[in-house]
Amino acid sequence: MAHWTLDDIDWSAFDAGKVDRNLLAIVKTSALVEANAADYVAYLEAVFAGDAPFLAAAQDWGAEERQHGAALGRWAALADPGFDLETALGHFRAGYAIPAGDGGSVRGSRAAELVARQVVETGTSSFYSALRDAAQEPVLKAITARIAADEFRHYKLFADHGRRYARIGRPAALKVVATRLAETGDEELGWAWYAANIAGPEAPPCRPRAHARTYNGLVARLYTPGHVESGVRMLLRAIGLSPRGPALAAGSLAMRGVMRWRGALA
Ligand SMILES: [Fe+2]
Ligand SMILES: [Fe+2]
Repeated sequence: MAHWTLDDIDWSAFDAGKVDRNLLAIVKTSALVEANAADYVAYLEAVFAGDAPFLAAAQDWGAEERQHGAALGRWAALADPGFDLETALGHFRAGYAIPAGDGGSVRGSRAAELVARQVVETGTSSFYSALRDAAQEPVLKAITARIAADEFRHYKLFADHGRRYARIGRPAALKVVATRLAETGDEELGWAWYAANIAGPEAPPCRPRAHARTYNGLVARLYTPGHVESGVRMLLRAIGLSPRGPALAAGSLAMRGVMRWRGALA
């Protein structure tokens, strides 16, 4: 069960004068990635076949992610009446599909898969926190606050299920985190950016890596040192390390460097 619905949002508070163009382009893009969550549910169902408690949780999780897409899409259509979530989703799905698996985890084990899911939810929770703090438009602020709370809960969900499986050890967990962080998702994000902001009858062809660079750069500029530090703490916990001390300082320094670099490339 989702913790909120679209009816809990006060859409009448929308203030067109406070819409930022860059945030609008980012919101349209993330609406598509969220709305496509069914593909990830199918992947997790194959990887966790037979684990009834996890499969039930994965269904609820997928429904919440789809609701994120619906809420962001509705806001984007308010801010830009020319935007239609279903049309944009059609463009997105025509260009991109998550790679079909063979039923196994691409991470090598269920425990490793759950660590990788914690990395993804760390990314989404920090992203929506940064978006919430940057947003001036009150409805977007309210939506992103609710989504950020969901994403923190998703991180905890995957961490809790991770405790039901034998731990994979810190070196292996560190490898999963590093690998997942290095996979920038350029194909997916680039296609989502294109479908959300460029695609149409006269549009030039999609250049996924260039579009992903634009998207990642605009997003990176939203992060404050506080957002970065909170994300690094979550990654350290996912590895099984203390979320403070030298590891936190070093991790935060490195991640702030990545964000500055991405922001400069956009
Ligand atoms: Fe989400
Ligand atoms: Fe999530």
